[in-house]
Amino acid sequence: MMGELRVLREQAEAELQQAGTEEAFQAIRTRYLGRKGLLTGLLRNIANVAPAERPQFGKECNEVKEELSARIDELLAGLASSKKDEVLLRELIDVTLPGRGVRHGRLHPVTQVREEICRIFAGLGFSVVEGPEVELDYYNFEALNIPKNHPARDMQDTFYVEENIVLRTHTSPVQIRIMEKTRPPVRILSPGRVYRRDSDISHTPMFHQIEGLLVDRGITFGDLKGVLTVFLKQIFGEETALRFRPSFFPFTEPSAEVDIRCVICRGQGCRVCGQSGWLEILGSGMVDPEVFRNVGYDPDEFTGFAFGLGLERIAMLKFGISDIRLFFDNDMRFLEQF
Ligand code: FA5
Ligand code: MG
Repeated sequence: MMGELRVLREQAEAELQQAGTEEAFQAIRTRYLGRKGLLTGLLRNIANVAPAERPQFGKECNEVKEELSARIDELLAGLASSKKDEVLLRELIDVTLPGRGVRHGRLHPVTQVREEICRIFAGLGFSVVEGPEVELDYYNFEALNIPKNHPARDMQDTFYVEENIVLRTHTSPVQIRIMEKTRPPVRILSPGRVYRRDSDISHTPMFHQIEGLLVDRGITFGDLKGVLTVFLKQIFGEETALRFRPSFFPFTEPSAEVDIRCVICRGQGCRVCGQSGWLEILGSGMVDPEVFRNVGYDPDEFTGFAFGLGLERIAMLKFGISDIRLFFDNDMRFLEQF
């Protein structure tokens, strides 16, 4: 019997060596230590042992039982902790690694300038309205006192969609659309895209203008000059040099263009300003009586002024950009600077 006990013990140990899973360890526990297990069975047959040896046999049986039970507990504990290590190793996070940066979007410089100009004019009581980019010949030219075959049509090389439909060459048609719908006083600002067959260092085929229109009783050229001067000093600074230069537009009389001292060459003359030292940024004038008649306003009762400015030109001067085409290249190295 003592021999059998020893054999069982070695057998159990050998099986434990082979086993690797929790289920296998539990199965060994049941096979040897369970109620119908091998060791329990051995102990039940204690009657076959000589009476003198029974105490000793019982004691050893219990020792083997306890030893085996402890051994299995130990193996199970080892299994659990190595599983935990494995999970930890697999889910290892290096908290010292730098995070992934979030790329911040920015407003395009032209958008920034548009918002600033709209803010300044809002402070002067102007409200913002918009008009269509695909425009009828009537609004883009005809109603603005530019009849067909009028030489002034050559001033703006036009993209035609159909015979009487154009891509608007300026924002001035919005003047007509607004005046057709409302009675004075009118005080509006209208930003938007315009199109011309034009391309060089200071001209692009698509660019942005902002139109301004103010109509009321008793408006004079002094109001025009005052409003535009206040605006230009706000956007470019008090010390900025600007000049009003007589000009011609079919829809204003008298007309003036405003130039800003070129910021690229500081008036010395360069490629951007065509060696003149000045950059034209807007056209303006007193609304022509003929235009008022086209929208049903009485020119004896109302007067007003209008202006149209080039947004890219203003952005170029404000940020010191020497080529207008940079605005439309979508080069991140350029755009990230604003
Ligand atoms: C006009 O478009 C008139 N409608 C402005 C106006 C409005 C006059 C109301 C009187 C009353 P002009 O063609 O000069 O005028 O253009 C106005 C401004 O747009 C110019 O001063 C210039 O700053 C800008 N501009 C003109 N052509 C281009 C171009 N191809 N690329 C970028 N900017 C341009
Ligand atoms: Mg001009």
